[in-house]
Parts: sequence; C-alpha cells; structure tokens
Amino acid sequence: MRMLEGGIGEEGPRLKVLFDEAARRRALMEEARAGLTAMPKALSPRWLYDERGSLLFEEITRLEVYYPTRRERAILRAYAREIARLTRAETLVELGSGTSEKTRMLLTALSDLGTLRRFVPFDVSAATLRASMTRLRRDYPHLLLEGVVGDFEHHLQAIRGDDRRLIAFLGGTIGNLEPAPRARFLREVARTMKVGDALLLGTDLVKARERLLAAYDDPEGVTAAFNLNVLYVLNRELGARFDVPRFEHRVRFDEERAWIEMSLRSRCAQVVPVTALGLQVPFAEGEALRTEISAKFRPEQVQAELAAAGLRMMDWWTDDGGEFGVSLSTRR
Ligand code: SAH
Ligand code: AVI
Repeated sequence: MRMLEGGIGEEGPRLKVLFDEAARRRALMEEARAGLTAMPKALSPRWLYDERGSLLFEEITRLEVYYPTRRERAILRAYAREIARLTRAETLVELGSGTSEKTRMLLTALSDLGTLRRFVPFDVSAATLRASMTRLRRDYPHLLLEGVVGDFEHHLQAIRGDDRRLIAFLGGTIGNLEPAPRARFLREVARTMKVGDALLLGTDLVKARERLLAAYDDPEGVTAAFNLNVLYVLNRELGARFDVPRFEHRVRFDEERAWIEMSLRSRCAQVVPVTALGLQVPFAEGEALRTEISAKFRPEQVQAELAAAGLRMMDWWTDDGGEFGVSLSTRR
C-alpha cells in the first residue's frame, strides 16, 4: 500500500493506493491473456475506465436515452434525508464512486444531520478519484476525505472501520458483475460490515427490451465510443495493435439472464498482435469480444441476493416509473 497525498493524522484529502500501476498492469495482462484466448472472447468491464473511458461514461450519464442516472438521482433526492436518519452514518464509503455526483445528496443530508465525519470514495480509476476529491474538498471542507484506489473485487479489506458506516454502491454497477462474482462480492461487503452499518445499493430494474437497448446504443454514438475505447487501452497498455475502425459496438439483451451484453464485433477476419503478451489474436468476421454485462433485476431477486450474502433489506425505494431501485440493508 502506498500513500500518495497527505499522511496519517492530517486533515486534508488522502489517497490510499491499493491498485497501483504495476498491479494494474499485472491484472490487465492476466485478464487479457485469459479473455482474448477464450471462446467466446471476453474482458472485464473494469478496463473500460481509463481517463477517457471515465469521461465518456460521464457523458453517457447525461444522454437522454440513458435513464439510470436520472432515475437514481430522483430517488436519492427524495430519500437522502430519510437514509441519513435511518443510518446516522459517521463514515460514508462509496464503491465505484466515479465523480460522486449523486452521492453529494447523501453527503449533504448526513452533514446536515451532524453525524458524518468522513467520506471514503473508492474507485479503480486514480485520475477520476483525484479530480473528484479536489472538488469534494472544496465543497465539503468539514469532511475527512480518504480516497482509495482499489478494485472492489479484491480490496474490500480497506473499507473496514470502527465507526458507523454507510456503504454506497450506486449506479447499478453491481449489475456489471456476473452472478457468481456478484454473490462473492456481496458476501465480502457483508463481511466488512458490523452491526449498525448499512449498505445502500442501486439496481437497475427489468423493463421493456426496447427501452434497455436504446439506453446502451445511443444515436450520438457515445456508448459506442466508450465501448471501443477499451481497444485503445489495450493498444496503449499492452502494445496491442487493434485497428479500432475494424470493430463495431454491439448490444443485445439476453432475456433469459436478464442482462445487457455489450461487445465489440470484428468487421472482418483479422489477426491482432498483442506485443506484451506475445500473442497473435485471431478474429473471425463477425466474432464478438464481450466487454460488459449489465444485469437488470427484479426487486425480489435483489432481496434474495442480499439475503444469501447475510444481509437483510430494510428499505426499498424506486422512482415513479419503477425503472430503478435503491435498497438499504443491514447485517443479519
Ligand atoms: N457510481 C457512479 C459511477 C458508476 S460508473 C455513478 O453511479 O454514476 C462505474 C464506476 O466504477 C467507475 O467510476 C469505474 O472506474 C468504477 N469501477 C469499475 N470497476 C471497478 C472495480 N473492479 N473496482 C473499483 N471500481 C471500479
Ligand atoms: C457503470 N454501469 C452501471 C453502467 C451500466 O449501465 O451498466 C456502464 C455503462 N455501460 C454502457 N453504458 C453505461
């Protein structure tokens, strides 16, 4: 672990780096080797979020067709004070925090109540975290800010603590995990929690396929750029030679599994060198490289998955249209 900014005992923002450049590169090499030689080919969505990818995601959240951010924001606007009263959190931890834009409603409500002392934004993207912490420091000068650059599938030990904690995992990012890793992740989150701590979880809900497909295939092509960006990540970080225009953004909704699948489809038969891995990766014409799943949930499924992890859902809020759900759970 490496402290980049500030030090123990100081009141300014601190950044704890659990996933540094070397670890990131090792993980990317390992996953790219496995994913590019698998059938079908697949990569974890965590690689979508380099600096450009994170900016593109922010742009996605402002698109008319991308409803989840607006719906979750409406829920938080309506219930942040209630969440504050129910949790009385002294520390707010946010996993996959990104810009923490919606989270400000929680920061404000908990600060107004007078309980909150510390905010711990946790993200795999160091650049996003640094930028967001600079803004938070300006707008919430009374809070202790302790950012963590980490992978929430590996570094959750960093969020343990003795004070009363609210762990927020917003945006529907839980849906980017497949069922088995998702169950593992929720069990790990539960293991970090003490009696009195709470988990606030945002989940995108099952709805008409047309609405879902539109949200992941916007006419402006922002989601396509976000998806294709992962090829630039591989080119830059692994010396790969993906010719990006030879791939296209594809989205399908898997009804049975209730998830959106985002992939890159090869427009032609081609072989792509990946220098750092010593690989020549063949693609058939039309072959897909899966880059993300985004699972959609039914309320009873959220409750069941939380229960299986040892958590009890205490509250459940949705927006007026029932498109997005936010749950609050505690340890059983
Ligand atoms: N919570 C924000 C951002 C969602 S985008 C919102 O609701 O709008 C998903 C965020 O999770 C990105 O900031 C990305 O960098 C981060 N992320 C993705 N995979 C991660 C991982 N394995 N560990 C930690 N952060 C991750
Ligand atoms: C971060 N995550 C919840 C987004 C989602 O909707 O699954 C990522 C995203 N992918 C394409 N558009 C947005």
